[in-house]
Amino acid sequence: MDPGGNVAEIVARLEVHGLKCNRILITHGHLDHILGSRELQELTGAEIIINQEDLSLYERVAAQCEDFGVPEPPPLPKPSAFVADGDTFALAGLTCRAIHNPGHTPGSTSFFFEQAGFCCTGDTLFRGSIGRTSWAGFPSLQVLSLDTTPFFTARAFTEENCPMLAAICGRDYPCCRY
Ligand SMILES: [Fe+2]
Repeated sequence: MDPGGNVAEIVARLEVHGLKCNRILITHGHLDHILGSRELQELTGAEIIINQEDLSLYERVAAQCEDFGVPEPPPLPKPSAFVADGDTFALAGLTCRAIHNPGHTPGSTSFFFEQAGFCCTGDTLFRGSIGRTSWAGFPSLQVLSLDTTPFFTARAFTEENCPMLAAICGRDYPCCRY
């Protein structure tokens, strides 16, 4: 999931655990979540899966790199398939359900492994904070998405953990640190 880099380390861990990577799930199209996609796909043959609403971000990785002073990578491979809200698939013996959480980016998607009790939220949630909405995001959608992200609701998150979210709820403006 989200191979932003360090692909050699990812592959080494796969080998240690005797695992094969069949799918590369991408939570959203920001560069730090996709820069290793080509290398990982070339090494594993895995499918690359992303929400179609983040395809333009994914395809504009070179511009993202320029914005952040990161060396431009070779073009990324085209995604193999698109994931949509509610899609489910088997992964490592578990059922994974995709939850479309627009806000941080238009196509931000969480991957929820309910049986195992964990959810990979990309940059929708952080510990004590939420993902920025000022880089291709939408603050009002981010608030709504927190209500559909497992383990948190916008209200609980606001009251207990995230003063920044309170700011969004009150005054619909881009907030957050990342
Ligand atoms: Fe992000």
